[in-house]
Amino acid sequence: MVTEIVEGVYWVGVVDWALRHFHGYELHTPRGSTYNSYLIKDEKTVVVDTVWGPFADDFIANVRDVVDPATIDIVVANHAEADHSGGLPAIMRRCPEATVVVSKRGAESVPGHYHREWNFKAVGTGDKIDIGKHELVFVEAPMLHWPDSMFTYLTGKNLLMPNDAFGQHYATDRRFNDEVDQLELYEEALRYYANILTPFSDLVIKKIDEVLSLNLAVDVIAPSHGVIWRDDPLQIVGKYKEWASQVPEQRAVILYDTMWHGTRHMAEAVGAGLAAEGVPYKIFYAPVAERNQVLTEIFRARAVVVGSPTVNRGYISTLGTYMEDLRGLGFKNKVGAAFGSYGWSGEAVEMIEGHLKRCGIEVAAPGVRAKWQPAADDLAASTDLGRAVARAVKGA
Ligand code: FEO
Repeated sequence: MVTEIVEGVYWVGVVDWALRHFHGYELHTPRGSTYNSYLIKDEKTVVVDTVWGPFADDFIANVRDVVDPATIDIVVANHAEADHSGGLPAIMRRCPEATVVVSKRGAESVPGHYHREWNFKAVGTGDKIDIGKHELVFVEAPMLHWPDSMFTYLTGKNLLMPNDAFGQHYATDRRFNDEVDQLELYEEALRYYANILTPFSDLVIKKIDEVLSLNLAVDVIAPSHGVIWRDDPLQIVGKYKEWASQVPEQRAVILYDTMWHGTRHMAEAVGAGLAAEGVPYKIFYAPVAERNQVLTEIFRARAVVVGSPTVNRGYISTLGTYMEDLRGLGFKNKVGAAFGSYGWSGEAVEMIEGHLKRCGIEVAAPGVRAKWQPAADDLAASTDLGRAVARAVKGA
């Protein structure tokens, strides 16, 4: 249902209640998502971002509820990724003479996705377009989260449309942040940040400082996913600054796989050591864990302790995805450790430690290996490992 979010600006996006996987199967979206598109009625009619292609008909129907699509003058594509640009062909068929406004890098990526001869106009930070009573002001936001990403600001309404930034994969019948369950909202905002934006945290801080230095009044932040921040909109900006600083909580994640439960017993013994030192922890069994939840918990935590049996002279394959995530997401300010049982050669622990170091994660204490099923002394060593990690977490 179309919603007028401020006078003359309409949400014409769609809610995707069924979405459970995003970026192919790379991201799990347990609460669905929304693809937010905004229609501005001024002397000129403007659409800011569209929707994912399978929802283009719903999007066009929403636009029609407000205006005849043929009257659209400007379509802003803040970012080329298909969840926001997928409706471009459908809308541009109805207003083929409209100007498609893109960032400088968007001048590569948007045509690269659609291969159409639209009237493109590339803009940079500080560029403005007069639309009648108000202006559109553009702020390039490279790597938040693509090189082409851009924010669009509407003067007079003090409305910032930052595309993916400040978004959440959160399907809801409500459009505004003050109308939804705050726990759900922040769970999804954090999951989004941890899994998508962590690698760009330094840029997040710089971009926020840059936008704030422009002294643009911001009454509403309308991202391209999830709810719109109208109640204390800068609360999410403050949260982003906090998350981007990557100051972890004094807690730990234990992530393991096991073949015959030997490494599981060691994982629980490591947990006992953490608990003995008063450090809260969560244990995740890699084969059944929800990957993005694990990564969100690792984002929060100071310590990540990884356990694996040795298989084929290495760590078990279910941990491979996580190892790649630790590298790619580039978490900062972490300590780690490794443990695992083995039967014959026993390389896994050393390999995990080496990988943690290459990911910039300081190894807090030498890993623990148990031959065959862990004996009492192996479990005691695992508990001591948990204690050592806990001391590192607490900075002792
Ligand atoms: Fe980068 Fe929501 O797409």
